This record gives sequence, C-alpha cells and structure tokens, in this order.
Amino acid sequence: MTTLIDDIETPALIVNEQVALSNIRKYQDHCNAAGLALRPHIKTHKTVRFSREQIAAGAVGITCQKISEAEIMAQGGISDILITFNIWGEAKLFRLRALAENVEKLQVTADNEPVIRGLSAAFSSAAKPLGVMVECDAGAGRCGVQSAEGAVELAKIIVESPGLSFSGLMTYPAPGGAKNVVEFMRRAKDQLEQAGIACPAISSGGSPDMWSAETSGIVTEYRIGTYIFNDSSLVARGACGLSDCAAKVLATVVSLPANGRAIIDAGSKVMTSDTLGLEGFGLVVGHPDIKFTQLSEEHGTLEGATDKLKIGDRVSIIPNHICVVVNMFDTFWLQNSAGEFSLANVDARGLIT
Ligand SMILES: Cc1ncc(COP(=O)(O)O)c(C=O)c1O
Repeated sequence: MTTLIDDIETPALIVNEQVALSNIRKYQDHCNAAGLALRPHIKTHKTVRFSREQIAAGAVGITCQKISEAEIMAQGGISDILITFNIWGEAKLFRLRALAENVEKLQVTADNEPVIRGLSAAFSSAAKPLGVMVECDAGAGRCGVQSAEGAVELAKIIVESPGLSFSGLMTYPAPGGAKNVVEFMRRAKDQLEQAGIACPAISSGGSPDMWSAETSGIVTEYRIGTYIFNDSSLVARGACGLSDCAAKVLATVVSLPANGRAIIDAGSKVMTSDTLGLEGFGLVVGHPDIKFTQLSEEHGTLEGATDKLKIGDRVSIIPNHICVVVNMFDTFWLQNSAGEFSLANVDARGLIT
C-alpha cells in the first residue's frame, strides 16, 4: 500500500476504484429501470474482484469469451457464466464439462451444427444439460447465423440434442446496430414460437450504444464490458466523459529528443497497437495539446506542446481500447477513495484458451 503515485514504478496500470464502482452502479440502475438483465463481460477487467462487485450490484451473472477466463471466475466463486464462443475440440470440451460441474449455471453460444454436435457428445452423460444460445449475426459481420430461419434451424437441433438445452438467442451488434438487433430478434422469436420452441432469453450488448440501444421488449439481457473502465473510444463516441474513465496508464517522460517531441516508457507492449480506428494511441490527461502519435515496443511518442514536459514527469494516458491494455498487465494499482494505492492481480491476464 502506498499513498504516493510517485512511488509507483512505470509503466503501470492505475484503476480508480470509486469511478469503476460508480460505472457499475450507473449501468445497473439503467438496466433495472429498463427491465433488462445485466450480464457484464469480464474481458475488460479480467478480475474476480470486479466480477463480484458486478454481481453484488445486481448482475445476473457474467459473460466470458474463453473457457480459461471462466475457469478463473468459477474458482473465484462466480456461479452463473455465459461463454460467448463456439467451443470446439476435445481438450476444450473436456474442460467445459469439468467447468459445468463447478458452477450453478453454465451457458455457451453456438452458430453451427458441428459445434452443437460436439457439445452434445461432451454433455450427453452430464448430470445437468448445458445451456446453448444460438449466436445470430445482426449486422456485425462476425460469428452468427445469418437469418431468423437459420436461428430456428439450430434451435431445433439443440432441443433434440442429448445433454443440451436451448437457452435463447445471442448477438453482439456493431456500434449503432441496435435497431437491426430488434428486427432480427423479433423475426427469430416469432418463428421460434411458431415452431413451438420457447426462447428463455434474448441477449445483446455493447458499450458504445449502452445508453441509447433500443431493446423494445425483445432484448431481455444486455452484455457489456468496457463500461466498467471506459476508454477514449467511448469518450469519442459520447458514451462517457473523461471523468468516467477509471483506468489509465501511468508513464514517465524519459526523453525530450527534439522540439515538440517527448518519449515515454509505454510502447506497444503496454498500449497495444489497437487504435479502434482513432487517431493516435490514447488521450494524454491534462494535455489536450499533446498527441500520442507513435508506438514502438518500449517507447511511446508524444507530439505537440511537449515544452510543458520535463524528464521524469509522469503522464496519465487514457487508452483507446482499455480491454486489450488490461490484458498486457499482470497487476494493476487500485486507488481507493482515500487516495491510497494497492497492488492487485489481473486474474485472467493472458488467458486466451
Ligand atoms: C460477445 C460479446 N459480448 C459483449 C461484449 C462487450 O462489449 P463492450 O466492451 O462494447 O461492452 C463483447 C465485446 O467484445 C463481446 O464480444
């Protein structure tokens, strides 16, 4: 524990606990008012601590992208997990089956028959069925069946598969895609009804549209990840303000090699080269006239009014895409309301299988 930010070695990830908890609270209140179940995606914070805070605030469970993330969360006592991924291959199915025995409720998504057949083979002798949601592509162009008819076809296969239960429809829309989600899901829900298949949940998500997404009584569950920390991409989209950004990279100015240029000790191994289509690699807090223009592995280049900086100065950066930055750190400094910092683990850091 330290109270001095200058005692923290850089580059470091700093998380303001009060801001993160307030972001959790605000969005939970929003979902409560909208009648939506909230199932946060833990790929942003990757910590058991914040999963517990999300559940304590009222989330129905969590979303993970990988079995390894889910394993860590289950070990941390999280009992309701949705893995939004096509699980494929013997090794992963074996782990999924073991995971199911350690949690109260486990669901996965699937968008094709071979994946469903694999899940069924792994779970046909299980004590309780595995919940499987059909993933739908409502316009994002990633995974997902392409039509309502496709969703019904897979739902029928799930219903008939030993060891599985159909647990609903899931999609991850592109920013601005909420209207398409409602249209797609309304069609799919109607067709499921006609086929006599009950649809327990319709799950959508995404932080970019978190405040504006139309759900129209069709979407029942919202999955959201980035909202807990926010980042400069969400500031750029108007989804949050700078003061809502809970996680920042602390870096030190190590060189002022030329007029208008400063070098910091945070390069691509910290910030990642994921710009999310934005110019530059993050916002330099308190320096709107300085841009973060270049990355090499260990060096970050700041350009603009760098005459205000001197060697040894600390700068805070709000990354473009916080989720991938968190995954670069084994640990982060959690700042409490008294301003004290304590070191915490990024529990699921680097867990990609
Ligand atoms: C399947 C799925 N659900 C939910 C989310 C959460 O999105 P966001 O971080 O925009 O809230 C993601 C993000 O990648 C995702 O892939």
